[in-house]
Amino acid sequence: MSPLPNSEGLLRRRFAHSAVESRRRLGSSDPAPRHPAVVSSERTVAQVSLYPHVIRKAIPYPKPPLATERFLLRPFRVNDFEIANEVGEDPSTARWVNALPSSDGAGVVRFNESKRRGGSMLDLVIADRISDAYLGEILLFSREWQAGELAYVVAPFARGRGIATDALKLLTRWAFDQLGLQRLQLKADPDNAASQRVAEKAGYQREGLLRSSFVVRGRRSDSVLYSRLPTDASP
Ligand SMILES: CC(C)(COP(=O)(O)OP(=O)(O)OC[C@H]1O[C@@H](n2cnc3c(N)ncnc32)[C@H](O)[C@@H]1OP(=O)(O)O)[C@@H](O)C(=O)NCCC(=O)NCCS
Repeated sequence: MSPLPNSEGLLRRRFAHSAVESRRRLGSSDPAPRHPAVVSSERTVAQVSLYPHVIRKAIPYPKPPLATERFLLRPFRVNDFEIANEVGEDPSTARWVNALPSSDGAGVVRFNESKRRGGSMLDLVIADRISDAYLGEILLFSREWQAGELAYVVAPFARGRGIATDALKLLTRWAFDQLGLQRLQLKADPDNAASQRVAEKAGYQREGLLRSSFVVRGRRSDSVLYSRLPTDASP
């Protein structure tokens, strides 16, 4: 059974772990609305260090867009919905990730923009450099102070050409250099060999197994945790 009630379908995020986190961020567990005094202009140093996440800012889009010879990373557009949904519902994808957060393109754009402005998520389409066609998506989540988590999907027809690895390398470097993040991590199902291989090729180190830490379409599973620090050698 899905952990999210149907009425909250709009808040579903494509990626398992992030769906739950994104929902929590909007819910009563978010400390920001419950500690209004902390966001006042009289914030003390101690309060800032205790509640650093309340000074969260919008995550900017990379400018100029991050790109390789084959693709560039750009915002999700309304007309990406059909192919994104088809890719997401393909059994080879749906086994590992959740559905899109809305049943239409405008809803996805609204959801992504609200998360980006709130500083909790940046969703970028991996688009063909020449045709601008949707090849996949890569997401950066921000849930902890100076740390981020990444997730990715590549369309079945574009797999096996290093696209996920290149996108992950690009966004990782940008997050360290431009956002100043000090730790990036990603989680993969222990059976998802392709995702783990992508993590390793992009220089992420395996840290261990997180028990029952992943929720994909209502099914809980373990996940393998990978991380990369700005000081790690580039792959
Ligand atoms: C995981 C995914 C993003 C990889 O995208 P991609 O563009 O094909 O990735 P790359 O080409 O950069 O690298 C894939 C690597 O995995 C390897 N791989 C693919 N399938 C594999 C399998 N079943 N077993 C072992 N390795 C596998 C490839 O051989 C390649 O490694 P290599 O370069 O050493 O040969 C894509 O398969 C996908 O979208 N899967 C569904 C969604 C998903 O699992 N997302 C991750 C959620 S944590």
